[in-house]
Amino acid sequence: MRIVNVPLGSRSYRILIGQGLLARLGAECQKLKLGSRCAVITDTNVAPLYAKAVLRALAQAGFEAVLIKVPAGETAKCLKTVEACYDQLARHRLERKSFVVALGGGVVGDLAGFVAATYLRGVAFVQVPTTLLAQVDSSVGGKVGVNLSAGKNLIGAFYQPRLVLCDLDTFNTLPAREYRAGLAEVIKYGIIRDAALFNRLERDLSAVLLREPKALAEVITRCCEIKAEVVGKDETEGGLRAILNFGHTIGHALENISGYGKYLHGEAISIGQVAAAKLSALLTGLPVKDAARIRALFARAGLPVAVKLSASRNKKLLAAMRLDKKVTGGEIKFVLAKRIGKVVWGQAVPSDLIEEALGLE
Ligand SMILES: NC(=O)c1ccc[n+]([C@@H]2O[C@H](COP(=O)([O-])OP(=O)(O)OC[C@H]3O[C@@H](n4cnc5c(N)ncnc54)[C@H](O)[C@@H]3O)[C@@H](O)[C@H]2O)c1
Ligand SMILES: [Zn+2]
Repeated sequence: MRIVNVPLGSRSYRILIGQGLLARLGAECQKLKLGSRCAVITDTNVAPLYAKAVLRALAQAGFEAVLIKVPAGETAKCLKTVEACYDQLARHRLERKSFVVALGGGVVGDLAGFVAATYLRGVAFVQVPTTLLAQVDSSVGGKVGVNLSAGKNLIGAFYQPRLVLCDLDTFNTLPAREYRAGLAEVIKYGIIRDAALFNRLERDLSAVLLREPKALAEVITRCCEIKAEVVGKDETEGGLRAILNFGHTIGHALENISGYGKYLHGEAISIGQVAAAKLSALLTGLPVKDAARIRALFARAGLPVAVKLSASRNKKLLAAMRLDKKVTGGEIKFVLAKRIGKVVWGQAVPSDLIEEALGLE
């Protein structure tokens, strides 16, 4: 088992990474000195796969756990589901010392985290991420929340978990498309912070694509270390944390104009990162050959790297970028690379260049 610490003073917590960890959940929760009652929130896909093991591990450690199932998919990440969860927590008399376990992908993590942040003004929560995206990204860093019909993630809080437990065995059941989408975030960490990780992914991609536990454990640990370091330095996104949005300005806009569902998040940010790499070659001195390496790695991972938009859809894309909640003062700001492993944020980009960067060669 590997351990990564997220350094946030009295709110610091550990990320555990390894195989067979679900069985250890109860023992790990005991160390947190929480109350005996808890709720496991999961979705209808994950419940039949892993709820039993999780409930057994909690029971063996003396916890009284209730299972709350929410529908699978992004549409469940809404206030209506939050309310349904509150009702169940109240019905099962969860109290201030009780805690919530989020068992599932980023949807469940964001939703259950928000429920935990707000029920009784906050109860402890534990993340048990079961998608690659959730293990390397959404379960770490404390951003929790839900969507409004006006847009994604518009309601939320910064609320850190007390523990993150990443069991690599859960990938055995993860659909290939979801797995590849998670790789888009993995590659991102190499580009923004760690050239050695990027080189390693170039070298070991086949092992990673085969979900080989040893290669995966090392790669996921490194991603979590980078996220932990960035969050530790800038918990609420005053500055440095912005680098995690590399490729996301275009990616979010693409998700938006395509209607959620056409592209998985990882697919949209794959296109976004390849475009951001091209812009970096034009504007911030990323060597052209490194922009080509970035594109090649996403392509080898089976992710889309370009999109051809009609003039009217292109306009929509730019409008969507301006609506992004991270835009301040109406200016679209990009994270761009100076080289692989080093990025700068807050870069203004002329809109005609964005169009050029998106297209196929
Ligand atoms: N909080 C953050 O910092 C942060 C960061 C990135 C993304 N997010 C959020 O994460 C969400 C996306 O997360 P996601 O990509 O994990 O999607 P997801 O939670 O929808 O999971 C993807 C699909 O895989 C299924 N699934 C999950 N684990 C499985 C397993 N082990 N085996 C089989 N099926 C499994 C789910 O039921 C779902 O159908 C978005 O809502 C996004 O906004 C949050
Ligand atoms: Zn992302």
